[in-house]
Amino acid sequence: MNLDHLTQTAAAMVRPGKGILAADESSGTIKKRFDAIGVESTPDNRRDYRELLFRSSDAMKSYISGVILYDETIRQAANDGTPLVKLIEQAGAIPGIKVDLGAKPLPFCPGETITEGLDGLRERLKEYAGLGARFAKWRAVIDVGEGVPSWTAVRANAHALARYAALCQEQDVVPIVEPEVLMDGAHDIDRCATVTEFVLKTVFQELYEQRVVLEGMVLKPNMVIAGKKAPVQAPVEEVAEKTLMVLRRCVPAAVPGIAFLSGGQSDQEATAHLDAMNRTSRAPWRLTFSYGRALQAAPQKVWSGSAENVEAAQRAFSHRARMNSLAAAGQWRRELEEMAA
Ligand code: 13P
Repeated sequence: MNLDHLTQTAAAMVRPGKGILAADESSGTIKKRFDAIGVESTPDNRRDYRELLFRSSDAMKSYISGVILYDETIRQAANDGTPLVKLIEQAGAIPGIKVDLGAKPLPFCPGETITEGLDGLRERLKEYAGLGARFAKWRAVIDVGEGVPSWTAVRANAHALARYAALCQEQDVVPIVEPEVLMDGAHDIDRCATVTEFVLKTVFQELYEQRVVLEGMVLKPNMVIAGKKAPVQAPVEEVAEKTLMVLRRCVPAAVPGIAFLSGGQSDQEATAHLDAMNRTSRAPWRLTFSYGRALQAAPQKVWSGSAENVEAAQRAFSHRARMNSLAAAGQWRRELEEMAA
């Protein structure tokens, strides 16, 4: 393990004013996104769409530090034959790779899942590093409901995250550690805070036990937020305050950066929450974004599978990337959204 190399990469992933583009949708997930815009999910269409994003030079050069790729994408080339990984590097961003194999039902825990993919991971990491990946991602999924999450599910997922993170660092690949507490339920913000605190405490204990070097990782958590079906949604300031409270209680200062997932928040909510945290924060870590939907929903809709819409889609992507870059500095203003609209 080369600790200097790991800490430099981790620091570059969360450098000021920049964040991560999560473009690592599995074939099943991207099909759902394409269905919504009436585009057939073929390898060529997936390539064209992702090429559009990676060739958005304004967004990529100014606001994006790294891109999380899917197994298919890291092997694909652009229309002119340039590997997509090269496009990302040419823009000054770092290529990364999703290495988990998805969340599968956890035995004896109805409704709960365990993320799989540890078997053979060392060899897969070696291959991905050879293809240009300098960081990786593994997502654990924790649902909130009656009697859920169970200790069984939290412990098993935290352990798998730590095993993954250690294998990454052994291969000089920076692990993004993503324990996602879902916002799908009807729970209130305080229940999300309680569950997120429990999950993060467990994850950091497991990381310690597996000897993961905190300086060489990035945490990708959910924000502390009410479930989508909750009757009352907390205001922006409360989300920011409670998210920071939980993070301060759980995340050691040795972790260089925290890059949030958007998790089903609207584009502007995800931006407003990140901005509010960076306005008030005297946090020991950098706070930035690693958004999938909150960066891509707008450009996907504008593109809708038509080559004529590529430039407009790139403008939509650059706008969202810029808004989130400002939020990562606590300098976003809602008027900027209205002016762009
Ligand atoms: P969302 O921002 O759409 O939640 O996606 C981020 C991600 O990478 C989930 O694993």
